Amino acid sequence: IHDKFKTFNKAYFVACGTAYHACLSGANILERLTGIPTFTQVASEFRYCDPIVDEKTMCVFVSQSGETADTMAALRLAKEKGCTTIAVANVLGSSISREADHTIYTCAGPEIAVASTKAYTTQLIVLLLLGMYISQALGNENEDYKRIIEGIASLPQHIENILKDEKTFEHYASYLKDLKDAYYIGRSLDYATVLEGALKLKEVSYVHADAYIAGELKHGPIALIENDITVISIMTDKNLVEKTVSNIQEVITRGAKTLVVTNQNIDDKMFDTVIHIPETNTFISPILSVIPLQLLAYYISKEKGLDVDKPRNLAKS
Ligand code: BG6
Repeated sequence: IHDKFKTFNKAYFVACGTAYHACLSGANILERLTGIPTFTQVASEFRYCDPIVDEKTMCVFVSQSGETADTMAALRLAKEKGCTTIAVANVLGSSISREADHTIYTCAGPEIAVASTKAYTTQLIVLLLLGMYISQALGNENEDYKRIIEGIASLPQHIENILKDEKTFEHYASYLKDLKDAYYIGRSLDYATVLEGALKLKEVSYVHADAYIAGELKHGPIALIENDITVISIMTDKNLVEKTVSNIQEVITRGAKTLVVTNQNIDDKMFDTVIHIPETNTFISPILSVIPLQLLAYYISKEKGLDVDKPRNLAKS
């Protein structure tokens, strides 16, 4: 496939649920590293929207189980249309890996809980590596690649440090347990992460949660903000911090309670709660910034006495 990368004029990333959120990050990174115009689509839409794809399109299908029906149907459609298909799957020998032209395994081990957290971490890493690999195959040498690889190698230590902070998250959960609604905001890669954070809160804590692109707040969702509404933000891109801070100021003015996850130097006093995570390359930051959101959902679920691993109405393929 190495020589084929030069022939692609378009890339599609397709998946469902959590895997789709990993696609949003992976697609953003691929486009920025390679300049290949890149699109994302949920599988249940892709299969019915008559996508404009052909033999010059690379289609990446991401699935933990490798069996999700919509993702499989989307893969078959892409193949029919002559696309080159790459599966990113966790389960060895799964249907998706048997039918795609190429497969990359995430090797996250057996997935027991529905929430798919370790699958998400590994999907993000594989999609980042894929983006760098294709970029290099196209002849782009980037000084940052070595630092990104070093950053990936230091992830276990950083993740362990965040996980150790159990008491802090238990404390947040104890005062957020009666939460009825939560709004999440972020820009660029942080937007994919807030979508995933909101999904976790819905899935395992049964709290209504919505995620918005921070810049879109003023175009509608701001109407929902009133006294004591909780707004959770992620800010990991130094070029976008100022913009997002100004969005958060707008919700503070309307009485919202704010929780911020960041790896940037911000004025903590402005917000109700700030969770600091280690600073890393922008492309690696989604792997770390999602963890506080997963922990928040986990501890709120526990505080409410729910079964975190087996949310109602959800099943694994
Ligand atoms: C849903 C699960 O049914 O399928 C989600 O509840 C999961 O947790 C989604 O993200 C996609 O699953 P898979 O196996 O294709 O990644």
